[in-house]
Amino acid sequence: MMSEISRRRFLKLGACVVGGACAADALPSLTHATESGELATLKTTLPYPRMKLASIGQLKIGREQLSTYPDQASPVVLLKLGRPAVNGVGPDRDIVAFSRRCSHMGGTLSFRPDTATFHCPLHYAMFDAEKGGLLVIGQATDNLPQLELEVDAAGDVFAVGIRGLLYGRQANVLA
Ligand code: FES
Repeated sequence: MMSEISRRRFLKLGACVVGGACAADALPSLTHATESGELATLKTTLPYPRMKLASIGQLKIGREQLSTYPDQASPVVLLKLGRPAVNGVGPDRDIVAFSRRCSHMGGTLSFRPDTATFHCPLHYAMFDAEKGGLLVIGQATDNLPQLELEVDAAGDVFAVGIRGLLYGRQANVLA
């Protein structure tokens, strides 16, 4: 038999679903999780390594600098675009880095400096390097994962994280 309290809670939850307006106490388990910090289910990745990719002085506009991050199995490319870019670093905010694996089925991307776009040879997806790896055309549904970069006082460029999930992985950083 349903108690009066649980029946009241049940009706509140029903009102949330129908009306879309939930009081904070209507969902006690979610409220509790938020107040106590991160939900356990959000802790799905290990900490990213901080890895030097290049020095600013080594970079030439439009020329690819190939590397891997966060491990040897994940090819990435570092670029100086010559124009400010979304999430770009360095004095001109034009240094960016991306995964080289297409977000659709993992095709190896090629970069075209004239349009600052990545192209996939498998199904012709195209991603915009100036716009944070935005998917422009093609069968992919996700943008291209972009590396988070930092530049230190000596002008060295470090990868410190990734925005987006690398193709074929359930987590970017593997145990
Ligand atoms: S693998 Fe790149 S578009 Fe399909």
